[in-house]
Amino acid sequence: MLDVRINSFSEYKKAYRESVENPEAFWDNIAEQFVWRKKWNKTLSYDFSKPEFKWFEGGQLNITENVLDRHLEKDGNKTAIIWEPNNPLEESRIITYRQLHAKVCRFANVLKNNGIKKGDRVCIYMPMIPELAIAMLACARIGAVHSIVFAGFSSSAIASRINDAQCKLVVTANEVYRGEKPINLKGIVDEALKDCPSIQTCIVYRRALEPTLMVGGRDKFWMDEMAKANADCPAEQMDAEDPLFILYTSGSTGKPKGMVHTCGGYMVGSAYTFDNVFQMDANDIYWCTADIGWITGHSYIIYGPLLCGVTTVMFEGIPSYPDFGRFWEIVEKLKVTHFYTAPTAIRSLAKQSLEFVEKHDLSSLKVLGSVGEPINQEAWHWYNDYIGKGNCPIVDTWWQTETGAIMISPLAGITSTRPTFATLPLPGIQLMLMDENGNEIETSTEKAEGRLAIKFPWPSMARTVYGDHQRYKETYFSTFENAYFTGDGAYRDAMGYYRITGRVDDVVIVSGHNLGTAPIENAINEHDAVVESAVVGFPHDIKGNALYAYVILYDEFEPSEQLIKEIKDEVDQSIGAIAKPDKIQFVKGLPKTRSGKIMRRILRKIASGESDFGDTSTLLNPEIVEDIKNNAL
Ligand code: WTA
Repeated sequence: MLDVRINSFSEYKKAYRESVENPEAFWDNIAEQFVWRKKWNKTLSYDFSKPEFKWFEGGQLNITENVLDRHLEKDGNKTAIIWEPNNPLEESRIITYRQLHAKVCRFANVLKNNGIKKGDRVCIYMPMIPELAIAMLACARIGAVHSIVFAGFSSSAIASRINDAQCKLVVTANEVYRGEKPINLKGIVDEALKDCPSIQTCIVYRRALEPTLMVGGRDKFWMDEMAKANADCPAEQMDAEDPLFILYTSGSTGKPKGMVHTCGGYMVGSAYTFDNVFQMDANDIYWCTADIGWITGHSYIIYGPLLCGVTTVMFEGIPSYPDFGRFWEIVEKLKVTHFYTAPTAIRSLAKQSLEFVEKHDLSSLKVLGSVGEPINQEAWHWYNDYIGKGNCPIVDTWWQTETGAIMISPLAGITSTRPTFATLPLPGIQLMLMDENGNEIETSTEKAEGRLAIKFPWPSMARTVYGDHQRYKETYFSTFENAYFTGDGAYRDAMGYYRITGRVDDVVIVSGHNLGTAPIENAINEHDAVVESAVVGFPHDIKGNALYAYVILYDEFEPSEQLIKEIKDEVDQSIGAIAKPDKIQFVKGLPKTRSGKIMRRILRKIASGESDFGDTSTLLNPEIVEDIKNNAL
């Protein structure tokens, strides 16, 4: 826990004011809470036009000394991670800070023994097991840059990420358990590595006893390597601005963007936000149900909680296995006090019989959190009434892979909550709402609605898109002058509370996962029968949004169930099951502007069952709209 926590609403207001009046002094004060090998000599330098942002320049540190070493003396025997397996009959694992430190150091030496040096990129493609946390922290220990790829992505999605970052080594497991049947992760990696010349070594953790095919000279078992490695590994001294990790996120073109986060700023941002938003006591038990393959898992399963020295739960399985009471069973079993999940999970659990909730004792809970997409009224109230029993503040946290840490959220028990509102920005975060013409909307008396931007840098912001700074500039810093554009729409009420309305670009949030429509269209177009396709989101009860694909076939092909299956398989293979469209409609054409641009606005309306399309007469092919609508699914 940090010593600069905000403890009341008046302290919040004071901190906010100070953070705007003198941002450098504000962040200095927070950064001083950490262990630095050498103090920074300049808090911030920035230039929105380049764009370039540097925080704590000249500062030297290693984040793992803050995550691990600094806790050893006082809290070495405190539990850092409680791991809960997919199968409730299997034993949980309890890992103290001291044990985690030891394992991280040893695995850091494994990486070194396999030729990994400071600055090298390491891909981690693993299930939710403690070894995933160990591998990521081991990278940070030696200054290697981790690039974690969610273990639900397909082999070609891994390959493109490995190649983009030119990773030298990949860490994986032989199997992953999520629900009933194991999935052969190593097989997926083998397939990916056929196209990854930069990979020299693949380290395989044996999650299951199944026989595992190993490629000679390349593949090594985790256990064998650990047995050979030295226990002692001093932390590499890093520059505050050195990269800590790359994490890929979807964009509106086909290629995912490798967002680069830095050692110093990310450390300060993830810990400061964790501490203030969740307001934990020393012996509380915190559980975030996200996967470490996403930013939420990076910042709020591993770095934020461990930097603050608390106990964090890692869960391997899924909310529905062995039944829909699993989350609540774990809350009861581990006496979880702080529970952080996604609206899509809440909605799917709210659909089940209340017995799944009621048979468990949830009285340990103090704070609930929500992340990843807007939370609707029904889900908010269900969460509040049945899980929190009306006693737990709900922190609806708005942020992004790019922001590295929470930007807008209530501080639990300190600032007010309000259903469906992420509420107020954290001190240090200067938001603005922009109108159609790119002007800031400054009204504070009534409801203001616009696009959300951030007008001052913050420490945990991503510094670039790996290997493509131009794309970083175009995506985030070209829409508005001297500001970061989030890609989200929002409105603000008279009290200054923000409510996020959703994406305003070609990214769709499905079950809390950020999916670009372009790569899905590319995958569909790979099918021999497909001329062209367009993918849009439409509202879905549980997933928040689901995907609707409009597909044009070559004349010689007839629509069929078989084709639908094959098209879904294309998406599954190219990206992963999460990106499979719920609905596929075969169409004769797509509505286009005269310059040939697909009018997605109209397709979104058709997919949502709306019929007011506005003026379609300027389209190249207005007649197609009626035709698509009449055959809509
Ligand atoms: C959406 C996840 C409403 C938003 C941390 C954002 C939210 C995108 C919320 C980033 C929230 C995230 N309320 N919408 N509390 N949190 N979003 O990069 O559209 O996976 O731009 O980061 O999720 O998704 P990402």
